Amino acid sequence: MIYWSSGVFLFPHRVKTPGCSEYQPKDGSYLAELLLSKGYEVYGLIRRTSHFNRDNIDHIKSKDFHLYYGDLEDTSSLCHLMKDIRPDEVYHLASMSHVQISNDIPEYTFDTNAQGTVRLLEAIRLADINPCVYNAATSELFGGSNGFLNEESVMHPKSPYAISKLYSYWMMRYYRDAYGLYTWNGILFNHESSRRGENFITRKITLSLARILAGKQSFLEVGNTEAKRDWGYAPDYVEAMWMMLQSSKPDDYVVATGETHSVQEFIDRACGLAGLDPGKIVRVNPCYVRPMDVDCLCGDASKARRVLFWEPTVKFDELVRIMLKADMQRLKQ
Ligand code: GDD
Repeated sequence: MIYWSSGVFLFPHRVKTPGCSEYQPKDGSYLAELLLSKGYEVYGLIRRTSHFNRDNIDHIKSKDFHLYYGDLEDTSSLCHLMKDIRPDEVYHLASMSHVQISNDIPEYTFDTNAQGTVRLLEAIRLADINPCVYNAATSELFGGSNGFLNEESVMHPKSPYAISKLYSYWMMRYYRDAYGLYTWNGILFNHESSRRGENFITRKITLSLARILAGKQSFLEVGNTEAKRDWGYAPDYVEAMWMMLQSSKPDDYVVATGETHSVQEFIDRACGLAGLDPGKIVRVNPCYVRPMDVDCLCGDASKARRVLFWEPTVKFDELVRIMLKADMQRLKQ
């Protein structure tokens, strides 16, 4: 039986970076597909930008998919949305999500990510509704460690982005404890796909290699190649978001693969698949080195496994293959 309900999700914010294409809704697009396949009516919030940047959602043709203009910095738009739609589920994915860029625009980052979360929570309270609310928290909260990180690990954020997200994480917990709102924090480790923005490292690598193979680019320029991340596959992670909101008790969950690999390993694996010599095409450019980087992230998702029965289906080797193949095909087209 198909259960019809109204769900709202919010797209990630997009920022125009010189020399980079605009960010596309990545998790939002996968989540919309998942919810529509489950019979939800889906309402997405988009910001007004000077460029149309909806490539990742253009293919979604459904009478149950609605887009509204709004902004995390515009309280009235959030209030109207909550009052009019009265959603059963809210997926709060909107943020200024680039760690390095948050050093250039710290005030904007805080306003959008931290205050934006409070505006959303207040809009929900003012509409006098009590939906299940998912918040996109992040492994950046931890600031890195050489061990496995779980929900109890110490949080020591190392960028304006991570600090803004820590505030947002605690506000979700506060509204849960103080006002009885049904709020979940998904502490998601890095999750990638061919829909990833082009200035995040995984996509930058696969797209650059595809362009080099096509003769359209000569080098791949990167920053810190020693950094290690726990990289999973975005469609697996939106499944975890949905599973959280179907669970009986609001809570916080780490979502991760439990494997960590360096940026260099990602480059080597992708070059191996592409038949390219990393020694000949990779250059370090200091402009991509961060004032303070998170050295190593590796998640322990045993709580999500135990309570939600969530499992990642794609791990590192397969992820690199999927992303490289998609970019090579895109370049051919
Ligand atoms: N972006 C980028 N570009 N990163 C580089 C580069 C480069 O040219 N060269 C090396 N890196 C290193 C960064 O210094 C960092 O250590 C690592 O690659 C990953 O960088 P990103 O892909 O930009 O992701 P992130 O880990 O900083 O943040 C992403 O994951 C978080 C979850 O842990 C973002 O999606 C965040 O929004 C998210 O919260």
